[in-house]
Amino acid sequence: MRITTAQNDIEKILFTEEQIKARVKQLGEQISADYDGKAPVGICVLKGASIFFTDVVRKITCPIHMDFLSVSSYGARFDTSGVVRIVKDMDLPIMDRHILIFEDIIDSGLTMQYLIELLSARKPASIKVATMLDKPSRRKCDVQADYKGFDIPDCFVVGYGLDYADNYRNLPYIGALKPEVYS
Ligand code: IMP
Ligand code: MG
Repeated sequence: MRITTAQNDIEKILFTEEQIKARVKQLGEQISADYDGKAPVGICVLKGASIFFTDVVRKITCPIHMDFLSVSSYGARFDTSGVVRIVKDMDLPIMDRHILIFEDIIDSGLTMQYLIELLSARKPASIKVATMLDKPSRRKCDVQADYKGFDIPDCFVVGYGLDYADNYRNLPYIGALKPEVYS
């Protein structure tokens, strides 16, 4: 087992702590305005979105219930196979509730597509998606975020909840990982 938060594994910082903080505040304001008078259920996709989720909800002014679920995708370490399994389901019922799913990053979009399908079957009043990062060039299906922190190019990033082999989640910034670390 390799345990590291080594800063020399990072090739380049893409977004600093300050940039993330400013963007999260804007997203919180946008979500607060859009859900004014409503009480949505925020659903955090563990573990990657945990930091984004807990930061954004504190910038949301309408009442929001917090819940968590965890999915695992079968197949290779980098490429989602599209076959996703719920490892931990959420607790709250969502029928007739407005739900907002929080993700760390949308890459192929297959994980989000599966989640939307799964949660739609529970008949919520509405479903929206908030993602910290988006890699639009990698999309394999027609999934779009309603709220997004930043678009990024096709590179592997870590920090602010995002990991490689469960490392680097606690970095306060988002950085591109040096290819030699994962190749
Ligand atoms: P998708 O199903 O291909 O959209 O994959 C989404 C999941 O892949 C995310 O929730 C992340 O867990 C993981 N992922 C995709 N790209 C990255 C990355 O650059 N860094 C860390 N995790 C990533
Ligand atoms: Mg994830």
